[in-house]
Amino acid sequence: MCGIIGYIGKENATPLLFEGLRRESYRGYDSSGIVVFEEQATHYVRAVGKLEKLEEKFANNPFSGNIGVGHSRWATHGNVTEANAHPHADCKQNIFVVHNGIIENYAALKEKLEKKGHRFTSQTDTEVLPHLIEHFFKGNLEEAVQKTLQLVKGTYGLAVIAKEDPEKIVAARLSSPLVISVNSGGGFVASDPAALLSHSNKMIFLDDKEIAVVQSDNFRVTDMYNKPKEKEIVELEWTLEEAQKGGYPYFMLKEIIEQSESVKNSMRGRILTEEGRAKLGGLQQVEKQLRDIKRLNIIACGTSYHAGLVGEYMLEEYAGIPTDVDFASEFRYRKPIIDKETAFVFISQSGETADTLAALKEVKEKGGLTLGIVNVVGSSIARETDAGAYNHAGPEIGVASTKAFTSQLTVLSLLCLFLGRQRQMSLVMGQRIAKELARIPELIPQILSGADNIEKLAQKYRDARNFLYVGRKYNYPVALEGALKLKEISYIHAEGYGAGEMKHGPIALIDENFPTIALCPSDSVYEKMVSNIQEIKARNGKVIAIATEGNEDIRKIADDVIYIPKIFEMLTPILTTIPLQLFAYYIGVLKGNDVDKPRNLAKSVTVE
Ligand code: F6R
Repeated sequence: MCGIIGYIGKENATPLLFEGLRRESYRGYDSSGIVVFEEQATHYVRAVGKLEKLEEKFANNPFSGNIGVGHSRWATHGNVTEANAHPHADCKQNIFVVHNGIIENYAALKEKLEKKGHRFTSQTDTEVLPHLIEHFFKGNLEEAVQKTLQLVKGTYGLAVIAKEDPEKIVAARLSSPLVISVNSGGGFVASDPAALLSHSNKMIFLDDKEIAVVQSDNFRVTDMYNKPKEKEIVELEWTLEEAQKGGYPYFMLKEIIEQSESVKNSMRGRILTEEGRAKLGGLQQVEKQLRDIKRLNIIACGTSYHAGLVGEYMLEEYAGIPTDVDFASEFRYRKPIIDKETAFVFISQSGETADTLAALKEVKEKGGLTLGIVNVVGSSIARETDAGAYNHAGPEIGVASTKAFTSQLTVLSLLCLFLGRQRQMSLVMGQRIAKELARIPELIPQILSGADNIEKLAQKYRDARNFLYVGRKYNYPVALEGALKLKEISYIHAEGYGAGEMKHGPIALIDENFPTIALCPSDSVYEKMVSNIQEIKARNGKVIAIATEGNEDIRKIADDVIYIPKIFEMLTPILTTIPLQLFAYYIGVLKGNDVDKPRNLAKSVTVE
């Protein structure tokens, strides 16, 4: 997500910080900043927008120094403003922190610090860190950082410098990557090895709950209680581009693999298991209004539209709210009736899709209540909607949407819990959904561990010229999404269908050369799916079944089976989608396609 860079040494830190930020910029960001110490002076500059804006500000008032930290921010807590950009400072501007991750208990910490007289200048969770470090600082920075991190709940990759202890950068990690390198040029800290490769390929990767003290010619790593740790120096053989992809051949694969983490980030701090509720801070201001809402209308395009269709099943079955889902590109032309009893939910990864934005403007003009489920913080849709919930899935770079989709499903499940508990949903059901949702990040790696099997299936079926994807109920939209992924990435024609519709036409297509992917987890429509699979088999069609672990019977009917772990029915789409993403990915790669940039497609569709 965000980018961290730090330097200490004999060189001028400023150009090195800018270079590091530029190398991390492929990850996406909305604001940036650097701070550099020069003898008595502290040079501190931040800007909203592209790095050029920061460089322009710097050019108007240039400076140099031998120690500094920089950051490119992808907003999570607080809008995209200069005050919210990192580095963040303590009251005296002695301590400066750059931070990736989320401090979950920031509100409680902030309240205590404010009572002690600390003055906060941003809306971020990060700002509690410099103030807490200030509280503990007695001249030794690492000691103060250790004490601070013992109180903090959440995730972090961070780098800290202090004017009153200026010979070091203190860095720490918990669930957010951080790498250091000390070489002939000096000591470096970064969140991404790509930022350091031009200086050295020898790096030290911090593990969770480790703290590093980096100086210009040496480093030391300890645990949270100052106990020294031995660290291996890893020699990377990556090119810069490989490093940006974290060693994966494509961003798409990296983003598929990342889903355990991105789904976890989407639900972090939002599930109240005991109360069987979801906490969605971005909906707080409209919470009362939402109680009186009688209908929902979800509006989106492409993959986000498919997420909306899954949402429709969830919201109707468990929250008891009649829900419609529209393509944004069609919504405007059917003269929609906007009434006060309906809430309009706009789903968009980029937050910039022209059709979705145009539909949103139309609803706003007619006075409808608008909500957003958006990944890119500060994007147009996020800004224009009345309220909403961010995905927190991190930047998605591959053009074909993968981790954004599973994140959208996660947020829709949370929305269902939120609205359901305002209405008919019992405490017991709320607790059940909350518990099952929280299990998902642990289940995703089980599916990913079967990637080799999916790759073999991709090899087996790669020459088929058409594919059918079928599912029912919650997995009908997953069939649509699976077919879309295959089309985009492999350029093979694929149709997604509700399995019940097969008999009404598409079954005429089936023969031995027209394979079907059948989504048939063990759920309330499983038996019906089995009948549909049998109809396909009776016409010599090949079937790949996506089924629940332990279901051995399905092997007797389907030609090939991919298993997913057992999960509450409403949540199966988050799991069944992943094998379909991998299948499309492997076929695309086997065909020699650039799966990150499929032909004719753009990541953000800003024309209608
Ligand atoms: C498919 C895909 C697109 C987008 C669609 C909407 O893999 O990425 O179908 O889902 O263009 O984009 P957002 O979600 O940015 O509004």
